[in-house]
Amino acid sequence: MTSTAPVVEKLLSNGHNHLHLQDKYVFPPGERPDMSQVCYLYRFPVIDLKDLDGPRRIKVVNEIKRSCEEDGFFQIMNHGVPETVMKSMMGIAKEFFEMRVEDRVCLYSEDPRQAVKVYTSFNVNKDKFFSWKDSLRHPCHPLEEFINSWPQKPTLYREVAGIYAKEIRVLVLRLLAAISEALGQDSDYLNAIFGKHTQEMLINYYPPCPNPDLTFGVVPHSDPSGITVLMQGDVSGLQVLKDGKWFAVEPIPNAFVVNLADQLQVISNGRFKSSEHRAVTNKTTARISIPSFYGPSFDSFIAPAASMVDEEHPALYRGYKFEEYMTAFFGQTLKGKSILDRFKIEVNP
Ligand code: OGA
Ligand code: NI
Repeated sequence: MTSTAPVVEKLLSNGHNHLHLQDKYVFPPGERPDMSQVCYLYRFPVIDLKDLDGPRRIKVVNEIKRSCEEDGFFQIMNHGVPETVMKSMMGIAKEFFEMRVEDRVCLYSEDPRQAVKVYTSFNVNKDKFFSWKDSLRHPCHPLEEFINSWPQKPTLYREVAGIYAKEIRVLVLRLLAAISEALGQDSDYLNAIFGKHTQEMLINYYPPCPNPDLTFGVVPHSDPSGITVLMQGDVSGLQVLKDGKWFAVEPIPNAFVVNLADQLQVISNGRFKSSEHRAVTNKTTARISIPSFYGPSFDSFIAPAASMVDEEHPALYRGYKFEEYMTAFFGQTLKGKSILDRFKIEVNP
């Protein structure tokens, strides 16, 4: 159980200048980021979406397909979300975490299922070691249903984040159509499986950390939804696992990071990968990242697509309601792709 310390003391964004790490942030030797092993030279594909809706669509779809098969990770440019909308969102996110902590604590919750909340680490009642971040999380779709539950401060928060969330949805729907085609289906395929759809926004705030070698911003994990579109700002920290090695993802101005999440690995019967990633902290600069998680509604049934299953490719996962997956996800601490593994079909040797 967590301490009964005042909420202001539980948040990292409490205005204190952190001079050292409390014990709960210090990961054991063997479980730390080990920055000396991180590769900084590789660049994951940057896919230009300029031609996605024109005569050269097939070429772009094939690039997306290759990235989905290899790592489930790529960046996109010419994605259609105006630069001004991205900048305003990053600006209001910064304001949110820089306003006095008293204006944030009213949203603090330790309940992983709480829809709108400010919290620290991932799940403080389950995390053995804490991650060096505070977050704001809230649902975004349908917008009219949720916008009135969003933070009231800063005053422009709802307006700015509302415009951003709508733009992200338009972009994601275009990506889902392309990924459906990459799966050999018609463009409406994933849209239909996702039912009423869910879209959630997270704002991660990583304050400067006195000792980045000892802790994480976010521990290694894959995202549980369908697809994640992340604005990572201009401070690096994101790393992706590729062939057993961690690769740093340097920010590209105005690009979005896209990573496939677990539901697409299941639906594609393992042909597409959900990407395993993590974030590390740094000593000098606060970092803000804004992932949008997009996926099925809770009542959607998720299973490997019939067209992906045959004698040579037996079903790797059992079918389930998405709600069951999310209950498993929020009931634990964050740990690699461990939830996905729970839905694997056991093959008898
Ligand atoms: C996440 C995440 C990475 C980052 O919040 O799920 O992976 O760069 N964040 O902050
Ligand atoms: Ni993630």
